Amino acid sequence: MTAPDLPAELKAALDAKLQGVSRNAAERAALISQTYRDGGVSSAIRSEADALAYALARMPATYAAVAASLNALCEIRPDFAPSSLLDIGAGPGTATWAAAEAFPSLRDFALLDANDALRSLALELARDSARLGAISYERGEARTALAKAEAADLVAASYMIGELSDADQQAAAALMWEKTRDTLLIVEPGTPAGYARIIALRQQLISAGAHVAAPCPHDGRCPLATPDWCHFTQRLRRSRAHKQVKGAELPFEDEKFCYVALTRAPVAPRPARVLAPPVVTKAEVTTKLCTPDGLAFMTTPRRNKAAYNGARKRRWGDAAGISDITDI
Ligand SMILES: C[S@@+](CC[C@H](N)C(=O)[O-])C[C@H]1O[C@@H](n2cnc3c(N)ncnc32)[C@H](O)[C@@H]1O
Repeated sequence: MTAPDLPAELKAALDAKLQGVSRNAAERAALISQTYRDGGVSSAIRSEADALAYALARMPATYAAVAASLNALCEIRPDFAPSSLLDIGAGPGTATWAAAEAFPSLRDFALLDANDALRSLALELARDSARLGAISYERGEARTALAKAEAADLVAASYMIGELSDADQQAAAALMWEKTRDTLLIVEPGTPAGYARIIALRQQLISAGAHVAAPCPHDGRCPLATPDWCHFTQRLRRSRAHKQVKGAELPFEDEKFCYVALTRAPVAPRPARVLAPPVVTKAEVTTKLCTPDGLAFMTTPRRNKAAYNGARKRRWGDAAGISDITDI
């Protein structure tokens, strides 16, 4: 399991960058954090201070979301051992750091992004890392850079698709899939709009031959209907600097995210997915599940003590084994 908090090496590199520029960075981070809360995009990031501010305000949360998505993927495919990664819209290298933690097998890291300031920051943050010191990072617009990129075992696009126009999203998805030797992971904010983008790309790529490894236990239509949408949440600790730049008191935050992991080969068996925090009463636990046969609400009565205790421990986003859901 990859922890949701930034790895010590990355935290240390960020802290070192903060020395001496903290006041400026804190002001910029507050602005960038606000821009994101208002639905803004990363094109506002132009300078070194902007890039650092983005990393302070948003990187811990996007890292936590990617780590949680990779944990779900690893649970379904414990034998997956990619040796190459292509990180699209890599920004400060968030998904690359998370993938390096999740997969000790990774050797080749290729990143690409249009933003010069974020690229420079990513290279600085990775410079002293034993594993990431030699990453290759292409600066360029996604479609052009993707067309030139080498295929990789694992391709990732974290919080990037939403910055493209609808037409560009489709074209980029097709190219990402073309460059995917094994698995493509797309992570987006856990909003209805982020979900809509994931569902559209999921459908497009299933039509192109992809299979869903996670979160869905099937390649069929999503059984959720508006206003419901499939998303998950990951809690992460806020460091002192993180609290400072966000002007926040709470020592943690919850990042809502949507994701899909698509594979070339079908994955079996695919367990059901817990779609909300289970509702626990003294009499029973009710769990909302996405199953291979659609949406289901599993009720586990207290009189079935072992099953009740097991159901109480389930968390939103967990995989639930087929044997666990026979009492639906
Ligand atoms: C919200 S940031 C996410 C960065 C990083 N993946 C993360 O999870 O923290 C979106 C990134 O996508 C990049 N991006 C947006 N549109 C792009 C395009 N057309 N071509 C290349 N990169 C793009 C931006 O420069 C930015 O680095």
